[in-house]
Amino acid sequence: MKGRIVRPGRVAAFMLAGMSFSAMAQQAAIFDPMDRIHPVWAESGMVSAQERLAAEIGRDIMAQGGNAVDAGVAVAFALAVTLPRAGNIGGGGFMLVHDAETGRTHAIDYREMAPQGATRDMFLDAAGEADSDRSLYSGAASGVPGTVAGMKLALDNYGSMDWAEVISPAIRLAEEGIAVTPELADSIEAERAHLEKFPASAAIFFKPGGESYRPGDRLVQADLAKTLRTIAKDGPDGFYKGAVAEAVARSVQAAGGVITPEDMAAYKPVLREPVRGSYRGYDIVSMPPPSSGGVHLIQILNALEGYPIATLGQNTGETIHLMAEAMKLAYADRSEYLGDPDFVDVPVAALTGKDYAAEMRRKISADFATPSTMIKPADLAPYESDQTTHFSVVDKDGNAVSNTYTINLNYGSGLVAEGTGVLMNNEMDDFSAKPGVPNAFGLVGGDANAVQAGKRPLSSMTPTMVLKDGKVWLVTGSPGGARIITTVLQVVMNMIDHGMNVAEASTAPRIHHQWLPDELRVEEGIGLDTIRILQAKGHDVVVKEAMGSTQSIMRDPATGTLYGASDPRRPDAATLGY
Ligand code: DON
Repeated sequence: MKGRIVRPGRVAAFMLAGMSFSAMAQQAAIFDPMDRIHPVWAESGMVSAQERLAAEIGRDIMAQGGNAVDAGVAVAFALAVTLPRAGNIGGGGFMLVHDAETGRTHAIDYREMAPQGATRDMFLDAAGEADSDRSLYSGAASGVPGTVAGMKLALDNYGSMDWAEVISPAIRLAEEGIAVTPELADSIEAERAHLEKFPASAAIFFKPGGESYRPGDRLVQADLAKTLRTIAKDGPDGFYKGAVAEAVARSVQAAGGVITPEDMAAYKPVLREPVRGSYRGYDIVSMPPPSSGGVHLIQILNALEGYPIATLGQNTGETIHLMAEAMKLAYADRSEYLGDPDFVDVPVAALTGKDYAAEMRRKISADFATPSTMIKPADLAPYESDQTTHFSVVDKDGNAVSNTYTINLNYGSGLVAEGTGVLMNNEMDDFSAKPGVPNAFGLVGGDANAVQAGKRPLSSMTPTMVLKDGKVWLVTGSPGGARIITTVLQVVMNMIDHGMNVAEASTAPRIHHQWLPDELRVEEGIGLDTIRILQAKGHDVVVKEAMGSTQSIMRDPATGTLYGASDPRRPDAATLGY
């Protein structure tokens, strides 16, 4: 990317001016990427994370000789301290690891698991209605956490440093305390009602007497430091067995949940085959089920590959229309087919195939928005047998980590397991409590994602890598619930179709459609002219708050130079290189 690149989107403008194609090709606008919205630039390693202290830790680890996985595991533990709204050891997630030496990319599934006492109807009230208070803000909201086991698997298989060594920066931050930023103060205050319900949580996130932390105050998390020390000393057993596991089970049960010490001891992360696709000559590698993210990212890209998106232009009415129509079809399929592959057969190959993309395009009209009521999940029989945060890391050798993990909503269920400092997730809400009833992100589902003991709730997390000629070209991902998939999609399209650099691609206004509700959600910044074109096609366009918080790194395959960008949509994020 160093040097000058052609921006294909500009070709369309010349076409409008009535030029011949060869004249267009010759005169297509040429930009130096550094003359535009500026990415962070580094020669060796880079970390892009939603919180600066954690990003610094990851960068320093690589500068001292650690690889991308050493840095990634250290960032994950650090974020549990510095970004308590989403960073965690009480939640779970997904990590992709690219090994530059073998050229292989591995997918680690450390998603939470439903405890053995979980049942299909556990979130229905006496009247048979879905009880979102129970699935979000009670002990029952939590699945068995996977983060600690997932990080150990990552470090053992692909890291080079000691377990205790990569956890120690997080212990120091929890013990010594961190300076409260305006963002941290604000996000705690926003969840006051949920955190105050549990005395163990209130004791950590509020001062004695319930007073709020203010920007500049120090937030010390002594119990969390103690738990992290135990984990550093005893490995995952320090979390999944013994005093911490017992405290988690006790607190969860006292708050109406069913996690037992046996559930904790039984937790297992899983190494899975990433889901793969291609888009205009680039290879897309992303997270397979139990995340829906990779499947639908590839499905939507496949459908859009059949249209001249670059020529139609970035965020024009025509392009957004086609994107929204493809998104609707994908999210309809999500509601029917996606779930934990250890429990249901997910037709991954069918959904991510180029043939199916052609079928999707046949259903898409260039002129009219198809009402969601007329869209049903495709008939894909036979089945084949068979507040979240993202960080990206690339090291000097081209190894990479793409990690999205979560406790679901900000501060999870609000429940801190007594004496442990561990904030518990509310991931059980990602199951379909009742067919057709939307979850916290408006997503609907059915049998494939029904609650079941030992099952992992369906996710939308989409940690992704884009490879060119077998080498990492882009590492990206985002929080945002249902909107994660479409956010990642747009970063990829902005770079591949529209020739944007990684900072521009992260900044450009976003759009989202998830089939139900039948609304085309757009950010401020999509122009009124465009909105009018979309309305004329029949879209119900709604302007809502910003979507996503991407943390992305692009690697120039020729030179190894790294370009990175943190999404400007949330404060405190940092992309740092060395
Ligand atoms: O796994 C999922 O899809 C959700 N639990 C993610 C939640 C999320 O992204 C919240 N952050 N904004």
